[in-house]
Amino acid sequence: MDGMQYLKIIENGSVVIGRDGRIEAVGAADSIKAVYSEASFDKVIDASGMCVLPGLVDAHTHPVWAGDRVHEFAMKLAGASYMDVHRAGGGIHFTVGHTRAAEVSDLVSSLSSRLKRMLRTGTTLVECKSGYGLELHTEMKMLEVIEEARRTLPINISSTYCGAHAVPKGKTVAEATEDILQVQLPKLKEYMESGAMKVNNIDVFCEKGVYDLTSTKSILQAGKEMGLNINFHGDELHPMNSAQLGAELGALAISHLEEVTDEGIAAMAKASTAAVLLPTTAYILRLPQPRARDMLKAGIIVALGSDFNPNAYCCSMPIVMHLACVNLRMSMSEALAAATINAAYALGCSRTHGSLEVHKDGDLLILNTTRWEHLIYQLGGHQELIRYVIIKGNII
Ligand code: NIG
Ligand code: FE
Repeated sequence: MDGMQYLKIIENGSVVIGRDGRIEAVGAADSIKAVYSEASFDKVIDASGMCVLPGLVDAHTHPVWAGDRVHEFAMKLAGASYMDVHRAGGGIHFTVGHTRAAEVSDLVSSLSSRLKRMLRTGTTLVECKSGYGLELHTEMKMLEVIEEARRTLPINISSTYCGAHAVPKGKTVAEATEDILQVQLPKLKEYMESGAMKVNNIDVFCEKGVYDLTSTKSILQAGKEMGLNINFHGDELHPMNSAQLGAELGALAISHLEEVTDEGIAAMAKASTAAVLLPTTAYILRLPQPRARDMLKAGIIVALGSDFNPNAYCCSMPIVMHLACVNLRMSMSEALAAATINAAYALGCSRTHGSLEVHKDGDLLILNTTRWEHLIYQLGGHQELIRYVIIKGNII
């Protein structure tokens, strides 16, 4: 469960991936050579002088949207806060307007180019949220777009219904909550049961001026009853006691947590609720840094995500790990575990993803360097450094 405990380096190692795409053997090259003859392999990659790492896992993204928000970056640089922009009708509301109006084919094509960009910087499993529709039709449209990407691209996807990402204009929190509980979730349940859609997680933006604790609780609980994992935005801009709520509901993960309290940290540690930290958001919005060290000390499973969205335009987990080390004061080993096995845990996928172990999916990176730390140390240019991205044994 906790990657920090077993980060292990094998010098002169080999990995064997079976024809089913799963890891069949991993260990010292000599011991693998003693069991397998080279002729039995379809393909052999000589990675001498290189290093092999598990594929990276991005535990939090909002990659389905239309409409450019580059102009808001200038507003924020000039001093506007995230909520100033949001209240002025920008932010999520701006993206909602454009996403509602967008054609499915355009959303599919922008999503696939974003996911390909993530693949090129080593992400092999990514969480993808809806949340720029805020009404039935567009929320389902977004989930279908994610489903289409799952069918057509090699990257692994964990999908999240995030209909409670903001309160739609003209509605109260109570009305919006009612719409989610009575209209959106029942429809989603129908789609999931018919096999038309496979959704994994439920998310709510639990924040002052967005969804309060009571409405968050009822939405998350309803999602859990449908079999979705709870994985939500909490304690980002204000201390909301989201961490305590998540622990009480058995949430798999809570994201952001810039404003989490000591009590919240203790509750998450006790409930084995993972913290998904998003260093790009704190960096861009100049928020207080998430308390990674306190969380690690308390025994919380700390994961990382890019939070890719029109506010935090970052597709690269190596950059996220770099920020986690410099700004959140994580060690490089902690950051790697947070961007692999712990992120897989946050998505309920740690039995199949997140580390190089027998029976797990053969998702890995081969770096053009003998020292794996270069993936974090180098600030950018990672496409050069990552020689191969491999998913289920296939070179991507
Ligand atoms: O995780 N905090 C809420 N949601 C996103 C931002 C979405 C947006 O601004 O479009 C986040 O940072
Ligand atoms: Fe987010």
